[in-house]
Amino acid sequence: MIRTILTYPNPELKKKSSPVTIITDATRELVRDMVETMYAAPGVGLAAPQIGVHQRIIAIDISDKSEPPDLIIAINPVIVHAEGESYEEEGCLSVPSYAANVKRHAGVIVKGLDLDGSERTWKADGLLAVAFQHEIDHLDGLLFVDHLSTLKRELFQRKARKAAEEMQ
Ligand code: NI
Repeated sequence: MIRTILTYPNPELKKKSSPVTIITDATRELVRDMVETMYAAPGVGLAAPQIGVHQRIIAIDISDKSEPPDLIIAINPVIVHAEGESYEEEGCLSVPSYAANVKRHAGVIVKGLDLDGSERTWKADGLLAVAFQHEIDHLDGLLFVDHLSTLKRELFQRKARKAAEEMQ
């Protein structure tokens, strides 16, 4: 089922998500919905809190249309190693019509569980490393715009307010 993606400035996006303690049928259904919602958007990543569920689960697929799907489901993901710096443009399904360059680590190692509850380690660089950092941020109530300089963030907030006023 495609779920509604919450958008800025919905306060639900600012809440910290809780670890998954047991993977149940409900977890699997949630993940199915997350994946369906992400592909339908379309987006390259989605975190459970973006659909209002505050559990530490992320879905990522950075493959483009010409490639076969390459879906990653990470439950309770933790960055155990990070190195280097990158500064790439990011967008977010929860922050529509806005993109900005964000300072991130260029490479990360992430540990977590897959949907079977097996421990997994993902070694990522480039776009995938950025996606892991972006999605894990969502689990801690952070959006990519929270990483911008004060000046850039104020510009974004003004733009968002103006867009909201125009919607009325
Ligand atoms: Ni996002």
